[in-house]
Amino acid sequence: MRRSLLLLFAGAPLAYAPAALQGKELYEALYATGWGKDTRVSQGAKLLHTIRNMRRQGAAIDSVLDVGCSHGNVVAELWQSGIVASGVDIARGAADLATSLHKPPHGRASCNGEGRPCFQAASATSLPFRDGAFDAIASSDVLEHVDPSDVRAATAEFARVARNFLVLKIANRPEGSTLSGSRAGVGKFQGRTFKDALHQQGYADRLPTQLHTTVKGNEFWHEEFRRVGFALNRTIPDASWACCAYVLHRIEPYRPSRE
Ligand SMILES: *[C@@H]1O[C@H](CO)[C@@H](O)[C@H](O)[C@H]1NC(C)=O
Repeated sequence: MRRSLLLLFAGAPLAYAPAALQGKELYEALYATGWGKDTRVSQGAKLLHTIRNMRRQGAAIDSVLDVGCSHGNVVAELWQSGIVASGVDIARGAADLATSLHKPPHGRASCNGEGRPCFQAASATSLPFRDGAFDAIASSDVLEHVDPSDVRAATAEFARVARNFLVLKIANRPEGSTLSGSRAGVGKFQGRTFKDALHQQGYADRLPTQLHTTVKGNEFWHEEFRRVGFALNRTIPDASWACCAYVLHRIEPYRPSRE
């Protein structure tokens, strides 16, 4: 009797410890504080440049999905290059921000929205598009934010939706300064750090220690993508601290699965 009571108490604190914010809930909370509002910050510029170069060299990249599109600047730039482009982001706040900032030049036809908006809230593990819907997926500083248990689902989903190319930037190191070091608050969060703003929203005991949940090097990611049929096409030169960006291409020619 006493023994089982002790066990019961020993187990209790774990059951009540609030889990750290993660995934959709975390990024919705961040976008509510003005995350992504600073559109000068575009992590995707290098990827954009690479896609344009590859097209000049004759690569067939006429449609691109930006996974983790944030404010949508990369998608809007792709439109300017005459590319059909759409964006998804795990946070509805991001998709709404992008929608308010950018209108496609020729309506829905230029975003392959498949009857939906050009910017949608969706997880990298569940993309709301048919198989092979885009020639390429571009994704900058996103996969390191995915939970380790979601990595296989995300890489499989990229391989399902991209016909030929994956243009990726994936950090290989932890980051910890953004939450407490940056201030980009809006409205009642003006001037606050993101950490304070999360406190203000009632998440004080659920703060994540940092935002990079899967910190792995190139070898890891290249192996994960090889499993789903993609191999290194080229590395994308970047500042040495800003590891790691590259293009992967489909190893076997794309074959649509029969519907
Ligand atoms: C990368 O892709 C381009 C475009 O398809 C192709 O021409 C080139 O041969 C590829 N490079 C490598 C190293 O596979």
